[in-house]
Amino acid sequence: MSATLYEATTSAPVNIACIKYWGKRDTKLILPTNSSLSVTLDQDLLRSTTTSRADPFFMKDRLWLNGKEEEIKDGGRMDNCIKEMKRLRKALVEDKEPNAPKLSEMKLHIVSFNTVPTAAGLASSASGFAALTTSLASLFALPLNPSELSLIARRGSGSACRSLFGGYVAWEMGTKPDGTDSLAIEVAPQSHWPEMRAVVCVVSGEKKDVGSSVGMQLTVETSPLLQHRIKHVVPARMESISKAIKARDFDAFAKLTMADSNQFHAVALDTTPPIFYMNDVSRNLIALVEEYNRVCLQKTGHLGAAYTFDAGPNAVIYTLPDHIKAITELVLYFFPASAVGFYDVLNIFPEAGGKPTGK
Ligand code: DP6
Repeated sequence: MSATLYEATTSAPVNIACIKYWGKRDTKLILPTNSSLSVTLDQDLLRSTTTSRADPFFMKDRLWLNGKEEEIKDGGRMDNCIKEMKRLRKALVEDKEPNAPKLSEMKLHIVSFNTVPTAAGLASSASGFAALTTSLASLFALPLNPSELSLIARRGSGSACRSLFGGYVAWEMGTKPDGTDSLAIEVAPQSHWPEMRAVVCVVSGEKKDVGSSVGMQLTVETSPLLQHRIKHVVPARMESISKAIKARDFDAFAKLTMADSNQFHAVALDTTPPIFYMNDVSRNLIALVEEYNRVCLQKTGHLGAAYTFDAGPNAVIYTLPDHIKAITELVLYFFPASAVGFYDVLNIFPEAGGKPTGK
């Protein structure tokens, strides 16, 4: 052990997309076929916390995920992120300050815990790679803003780039072949529309059959509907939903969110072989929200809730405070604990970047 302890711990929140990322145009750099937009959820319940330590006596980079050691594959996503962060440490800190400790030459031990059911369609890879990026940025004292850090988190998992911001976040697909303009930007801070709530309904905590990375590449290779989606649907939806957020227009936000979730699952079904992420419980949750909205429209002229599903059967229902009681009671009434391991109602996460939790 060396005398000085080089260590940093940060945690990062999950984000749930309203306009979905599904498809890569470059699988190595993780460049998407379309832009996407998400809301970052408060990290009280769902988050990843990562501690990174550099030490001249460490023999190799090592990673423990939820207490179990995972291999860091050479040239794999984790390795790419670590190498990129070390390169930035050297270029931005060590080359400029001759007395700065040569952390870029040391091996790292990284310990990460998720409070998210890993790979259950609740974006554990997003919070995981965001926390890895921010803990290394903190350890290496890198002078980078969240958009700049999102470029590195993106190399770990595409959706992770959006967890670098709180509030309402877009991942702009970019056009450059080197990916330097494929990054996350803030569409609006949490304080702009703090009333938004996310009701997370965990239908299954099991690992999904077809992971996102494999699934989306199959879709890129085989789905004609995806080509229509990326050219003719998503660009307009990105604009409309950004406007809806800026105007705090829940009706427009909800319509776009539900339509995009449904189109994402349609392109999964349009894949050969077809991919089914939702199950019967998911479909019944859709029916419940649609029926709730029908009644709300009749009574008030406005929608009350919006469902969205990622690559798994779990639902996230975006809603506003006036509807929380009705929505949670309805879910608990029709879906007892055996069907939906009910998680909680989450607020929107306010802060940009991962939250430092210690030194
Ligand atoms: C359905 O970000 O997990 O949640 O970049 O291959 O790691 P990789 O994929 P990942 O895909 C997320 C897909 C999604 C939609 C979204 O979050 O936008």
